[in-house]
Amino acid sequence: MPDPSQAIRNTVEVNIISVLKMTQLILPEMVKKQRGLIINVSSGGCVAPLPSLAVYGATKSFVDYFSRCISHEYEVEGIKAVCIMPYFVSSNLTLNAKPNFWLRSAKDYVRNVLAVTTTSTRWSHGCWQHDVHGWMGRNLPHKVYATSIGLVLQRIKNKQM
Ligand SMILES: NC(=O)c1ccc[n+]([C@@H]2O[C@H](COP(=O)([O-])OP(=O)(O)OC[C@H]3O[C@@H](n4cnc5c(N)ncnc54)[C@H](OP(=O)(O)O)[C@@H]3O)[C@@H](O)[C@H]2O)c1
Repeated sequence: MPDPSQAIRNTVEVNIISVLKMTQLILPEMVKKQRGLIINVSSGGCVAPLPSLAVYGATKSFVDYFSRCISHEYEVEGIKAVCIMPYFVSSNLTLNAKPNFWLRSAKDYVRNVLAVTTTSTRWSHGCWQHDVHGWMGRNLPHKVYATSIGLVLQRIKNKQM
């Protein structure tokens, strides 16, 4: 079993520090040019509490909040920041599970995200299937939502998808 303290540090490093450093790197040039588009990747996992995702979800909440701040502060500089909050997309993270109705292929999902970023949206789940999960997270009783997302996660772990 990996060292829990190291796992926490890694999650903060990859999900928070990297976003801060990358923003620090690119913003000055964008300000100089008075235009730019920043796409930050958060997660549907921070919409509402999910089992075993406390640290991951909390770091993704950071990405959401930070992205909104950048969006507000730099709008006057012609810079737009969009926060993407995916649910399930086939990748290494989801054990390259076979795409289906809820679990989108990376290609299909990215195509949708790029379309979304051309609108004035500040955040998005990236596709309407993930909007449904987001709606569930915001509106359904927590137990119902957590159970349904937990089932998808379990199926991915069991490689049944
Ligand atoms: N897939 C989903 O269902 C899903 C859902 C919600 C949110 N997200 C978010 O989407 C983003 C992309 O994830 P993904 O699904 O594309 O997962 P992925 O296929 O595992 O890709 C993760 C990427 O992060 C890089 N990476 C990991 N640790 C790193 C480190 N310490 N330093 C530098 N690079 C590092 C990996 O590089 P290497 O290729 O070199 O390993 C890889 O390119 C993540 O922020 C994830 O939280 C994904």
